Amino acid sequence: MTPETEVVAPELDPLPVLKGLAALRWLTGTYPSGHPMIGQKLTELDGLVREHLRVGPELRIDIIRGAAHLDGVSFDGNDQATTHILQELSELGIDSIHIREGVETEELRSVAEFLWQPRTEEPVDAQLSRRRVRHISVGKLVALDTRWHVERWPDAPTGPLDPDYAQSLLLAQQTFEETAAGKALDLMTVRDLVQLLIVKVARSNAALGQILAVKQYENLTYCHSVNVAMLSLLLGRQLALDEFAMAALVEAALLHDIGKTKIPLEIVKKPGALTKRERKLIDAHTTIGAEILAQTDGLRPLTPVVALEHHRGVKGGGYPDLGSAVPHIMSQIVSVADIYEAVTGARSYQEAMLPERACLILARLAGEKLNTALVKAFVNAITFFPMGSLVRTNRDELGVVMRTSTGDPLHPVLALLDANLRDSRGTVDTATRDGAGSYERHIVETLRPPEGFDAGRFLAA
Ligand SMILES: [Fe+2]
Repeated sequence: MTPETEVVAPELDPLPVLKGLAALRWLTGTYPSGHPMIGQKLTELDGLVREHLRVGPELRIDIIRGAAHLDGVSFDGNDQATTHILQELSELGIDSIHIREGVETEELRSVAEFLWQPRTEEPVDAQLSRRRVRHISVGKLVALDTRWHVERWPDAPTGPLDPDYAQSLLLAQQTFEETAAGKALDLMTVRDLVQLLIVKVARSNAALGQILAVKQYENLTYCHSVNVAMLSLLLGRQLALDEFAMAALVEAALLHDIGKTKIPLEIVKKPGALTKRERKLIDAHTTIGAEILAQTDGLRPLTPVVALEHHRGVKGGGYPDLGSAVPHIMSQIVSVADIYEAVTGARSYQEAMLPERACLILARLAGEKLNTALVKAFVNAITFFPMGSLVRTNRDELGVVMRTSTGDPLHPVLALLDANLRDSRGTVDTATRDGAGSYERHIVETLRPPEGFDAGRFLAA
C-alpha cells in the first residue's frame, strides 16, 4: 500500500455514549425504577456501547480540557448540549469512563444510578463493586496518569531565535508541509538546509544552546527533525566523521521522520496511550518514510535506510521487524539523538526532562537498544551541563552555561544572571580553584527555565 492510499478507519463518536449516560442518570434519579423511559434509554445506551466494543475490547472515554477523548483522541463537540453534558460529568468528578468487554446491561443502569447519588468518602471502586459493576470504571484518573496534568505547549520555540536556526526551521517546515500535502520532496531545499545546518547553525553557540537546553515546547515533526539533525551532527563531530559522512548523516537525520507527515496529526500528538491500530500507524512512519525517500532521486543512499531503521535496537529489536539485522551505524547515531531530543522536549502530558535525566535515560537504554559507545560519545559531546542550561551554583547564583571544557565537564563557564534572569552580571569560570586548591564554585542543580526565558541571548552576547 502506498502512503497516499493509507486509509484511516472512521472512529466511532464517544459523545452519544456520554449523552446517553447523562440522560440515563437523570431518568433513574427522576422516575421510579421500571419506568419504560429508563428501559428505553438503557437499551439505546447498551446498543451504543456494544457498537464500540465490536471494534476493541475496551471503550475508554476521557474528558480532557473539557473535550471528550475516545482512546485518547479528541472529539469536537462544539454544540451547547455537549458542552453542558461534559461540564455536568466533570462537576460530578467524572473525568473518565472505561467500559470493558463482557459488560452487562444492568451494569450500565447501576453506574447511572450511582452517578445520581450524592458523593461520599467511600472510594468509587468500592461503591461500584458493591453494585456488582465489574466491567466499568469511573472517575478521575490516578495521579500517575499524567494526562490529567495536560498543558498546552507551543508547537515550536517561542521568543527570539538565532537567525540561522530560525531560517532552518522555516525551510524544514516548508519541506515537511509540502510532503504532507503529497508533493515530491524538494531536493534543492533539502540540500540548502543541510548546508545551512552544517555551516552556520553548528557554528552558532546561540543556536546550539537553544537546541540543547530544555525545550519548553512540544515540537512538531519538522522542528524535532532539525534538532535531531543538529544533535546527530554534534555526535558525528565527536566521532570525527569526515565531511562527506557528516553531510550524509545530517541529511538522513533531517529526514528520518518524514513518514510522519503521512500520519494524522491527532495521532502523532495524542496524549496518553495509543490503541493498537494507532500504534501500528505510528510505527509505519519508518516504512512509509523509507519508501518516500527511496523514491526521491538525488538523495544519499543511506537516507532511506536511516528512516527505516531508526527505531530498531542494536540487538535487533524494535520496529519494523527486520529479523536480527543490526541497524547501520548512521541509524544508530540518529537513534541516540532522536531519543535525547524527544525526552528533552515538552509533551502534552509531561514536562520536558532536564538534560541530566535525559542522559540517564540514554544510559539505561545503552547496550540493548542503543549503542553504548555512541551513548558515551553523545554524553561527552553535549556534556553533563549542556550549553544554554540554566543552573544554580553553591553560592546561590543563577547562570547560563556558556561553554564547557572536555577536561572538566562538571565545571563550565557561566554567564551569571541577575535575579530577574534578564541581564548578565558577567562570566565566571566554575573550574577556578581557590588558594587551597578547592573549586570556588560547584553547580548544585539545573533549573527548568521559566516561560519566555531565552538562553540563546546570553550565548549570542
Ligand atoms: Fe521516528
